[in-house]
Amino acid sequence: MKPADDPNIDYKALVQRGYDRCAAKYEEARHGEGQPELSLLMDRLGEGERVLDIGCGAGVPVARALEQRFQVTGVDLSSEMIKRARANVPEATFIYGDIMDSQFPAVYFDAVVSFYAIFHLPREEHSKLFRRIHRWLKVGGYFFGTVAQTNEPAYTEHDFFGETMYWSNFGLEDYQKLLTEIGFQLLESGALGHGFDADEDISEEHHPLIFAQRIG
Ligand SMILES: C[S@@+](CC[C@H](N)C(=O)[O-])C[C@H]1O[C@@H](n2cnc3c(N)ncnc32)[C@H](O)[C@@H]1O
Repeated sequence: MKPADDPNIDYKALVQRGYDRCAAKYEEARHGEGQPELSLLMDRLGEGERVLDIGCGAGVPVARALEQRFQVTGVDLSSEMIKRARANVPEATFIYGDIMDSQFPAVYFDAVVSFYAIFHLPREEHSKLFRRIHRWLKVGGYFFGTVAQTNEPAYTEHDFFGETMYWSNFGLEDYQKLLTEIGFQLLESGALGHGFDADEDISEEHHPLIFAQRIG
């Protein structure tokens, strides 16, 4: 683990390059049994409602599961991931780009999901990102996704599917406070593991889940 504080390094470009290069291995590792926790959200949505998947990766298993009942739009910074997502879930709409540059109408989506992705954006952007999510959601719409457990300054590691990768996050309580302040009600909490197939040689991980509803 190395502090990610070099002003000469473009860390978003590093994330993009890392996922472009490891997309095949990452997709293979995510081709498991799906994500049962999604039912928490899916049970509350009506057929055909609009769902945005931020950092959708290769579209499996999340966008694929959601697309069976909803209109899914996925956004990802990695062109290689977007290419795979389009092949895996041809019925969904996938947009290549940084979610911080993405434009959607206000009050448009019934739900926004984001699994294992927000911690790849510099944490200085997280408040703005959640405010954008709030704006894109209809009143009564849901945010469902993973954040991080502990507050830690940005860092890189060199062994993420063979690539250097960057993470940056606040702690769970910071995210809960932020969401409450900007007009969400927290509904349920929980946690996900690393989400990879059981035969992947990766130590256990704990990714707190936030399930929240736009109330104001
Ligand atoms: C760990 S993967 C998770 C993929 C997928 N959500 C899943 O559950 O398998 C993180 C994804 O977030 C994407 N990502 C990172 N920063 C992003 C940004 N600023 N805007 C959009 N996507 C981003 C990466 O390219 C990568 O595909």
